[in-house]
Order: sequence, then C-alpha cells, then structure tokens
Amino acid sequence: MIKAGTCSIIPRVKTGIHVIPKVQHMTNTGYVHGYSEREAERLLDQAQTLTSLLHYDTHYPAGSRVLEAGCGIGAQTLTLASQSPGAEFICIDCSPLSLAQAEERVMAARLGNVRFQQADIFNLPFPPGSFDHVFVCFVLEHLPDPHGALVRLKAMIRPGGTITVVEGDHGSTFFHPDSRDARKVIDCLVTLQARMGGNSLIGRELYPLLTAAGYSDVAVSPRMVYVDASRPDLVEGFNKQTFVSMVEGVRDETLKQGLVSSEDWDRGIRDLYRSCEPYGVFCYTFFKGTGHTGGR
Ligand SMILES: C[S@@+](CC[C@H](N)C(=O)[O-])C[C@H]1O[C@@H](n2cnc3c(N)ncnc32)[C@H](O)[C@@H]1O
Repeated sequence: MIKAGTCSIIPRVKTGIHVIPKVQHMTNTGYVHGYSEREAERLLDQAQTLTSLLHYDTHYPAGSRVLEAGCGIGAQTLTLASQSPGAEFICIDCSPLSLAQAEERVMAARLGNVRFQQADIFNLPFPPGSFDHVFVCFVLEHLPDPHGALVRLKAMIRPGGTITVVEGDHGSTFFHPDSRDARKVIDCLVTLQARMGGNSLIGRELYPLLTAAGYSDVAVSPRMVYVDASRPDLVEGFNKQTFVSMVEGVRDETLKQGLVSSEDWDRGIRDLYRSCEPYGVFCYTFFKGTGHTGGR
C-alpha cells in the first residue's frame, strides 16, 4: 500500500517530452528527465541493456533486508529482487505514480520479496539501522544535496552493512565521428541539470562523496559502455534509446533558457546520431561505488 508523504526534489521543467496523463507526476515537481511514458520506456530499455554490465556483482544474502532508495518505476528492482530471491527489498520513491508502475511490474514478474512505500530520502520513516544494505541507482545526480542523502541513508544501515551507488557521468561521453556541435548539446544537458540543482557529472565524485559521508572501505568501479556497429542491441538500446533520446528530451527547455540556437541544437543532435551509424562509435562510463558502515 503506497501512502502519501512529502518529498524534496528539484523543480520540474518542461522537457518537451509528450507527457501521458496516466504516468504524469501528481504534483508540479519533478526533474529534468520528466515523468513520461517515453521516460518509462527509456529507463526500462536502459535497465535491460545495462543489467549485466552494472549488476553482475549485485547479490544480497538470503535473509538480508535491503532498502532501494529512489526505485522509480522499478527498472533496477526487478533485477535486484530476482538476483537475490532470499533477500527482502523495501523500495521507496517520492513519486506515487512511479511506485504504482513499479508495483505492477514486480507483480507481473511474480516476485514475492519486494515491498514498496512512498517516502522521501531526506525524511525516511524507518528506525536507524533497520537495513543490512542500501542500494541507490541514478538518483544522486538529481538531488541538490547528495551528501545529505548519503548521510541519511547511512543512518538506516546497521553496523557492518553496505551501500551500493550507481551513477552516470555525462562528461565521460566520447564518440566517433567527433563533433563540437554534438559535444555542445551534451554540455547543454549538463548545464540545465546543474541549474536545477542536480549534477550529471556526479559519477566521478562517488569516491569523495561516499568517503565524506562517513562510509569506510569505499571502492568505485567504472563501467564503460562501448558501442559500435558490431553490437546493434547497444546501438539501439543504449546509444539511441537511452543517451540520444535523453539529450533530445531537453531541447525545448534548452532553447527556452537560451543555451544554444535551434540551428546549433539540430546540428548537434544530427551529429550525435552519426555515432549510431555503421561507421560510428560511442562510449559512456557509469560508476558503481560501494561503502561500508563501521562495526559489525
Ligand atoms: C532517474 S530515476 C531512477 C529510478 C531507478 N533508480 C532506476 O534506476 O531506474 C530517479 C528517481 O529518484 C526519485 N527521487 C528523487 N528525489 C527523491 C527523494 N528525495 N526521495 C525519494 N525518491 C526520490 C524520483 O522520483 C525518481 O523516481
């Protein structure tokens, strides 16, 4: 049962994505990627394509309690819960509509080890030390205070437990053919997210962030997605459907904020699509960080 609650996320911008009412966020809050059907599809495509890269080493022992913070529509939840069938997952998000979609997916997959609850990372309704592990994926980049989030999440973990954080870093993008216009449209996305209080270059900061929040034995592993024409699944699922589609989604807001002219924008997008052609190459790096809480 999803209960109402408060949530502090950075202000919504119109992304230009066609927003389908049934998945529209309940309030006028949100963040740069928006809450649209296209976003939902993008997150699922991304999850499927990246599952083995990001999660081959995500396993929780039977009997452990895991908090997934910012589970969204459950794109990672399905993988987490099916890879660790003996663990119990409590998955929270501030968006009730995303939670409803996540719940549907988990029911369709007949996973009995997941419970959803609406909650704000900054005001968690659990006693300290209630979880053995915390998992956070693609959430910190949207938060104005990622340090505060990591500190609050640490309080939820029992001594000797762990946190796992996965984030991207748009500055890790490079491609062939290279293009100044294409790099410019990616920079626009970075600037837009920064103006909204987020940080799409956060992947490179996971080690200092986790350390500053008081976690010990912090380890960060870069996970590069390399895409060329020999991997048509990745050209489609990651390069086009995930990355370029995400950049295209902020066109209207970028032009509204005067970050670039429409001609430059269109040239940049056209050049980004060149990296999806048979002669093109595309690289992006995700960062997966783990940390421990002290004591046993
Ligand atoms: C990009 S989505 C990632 C969803 C999911 N982790 C995934 O990898 O597909 C970020 C999610 O964080 C949630 N979120 C943002 N700020 C939050 C907060 N303060 N408390 C709880 N959830 C939050 C959003 O509602 C959104 O569902």
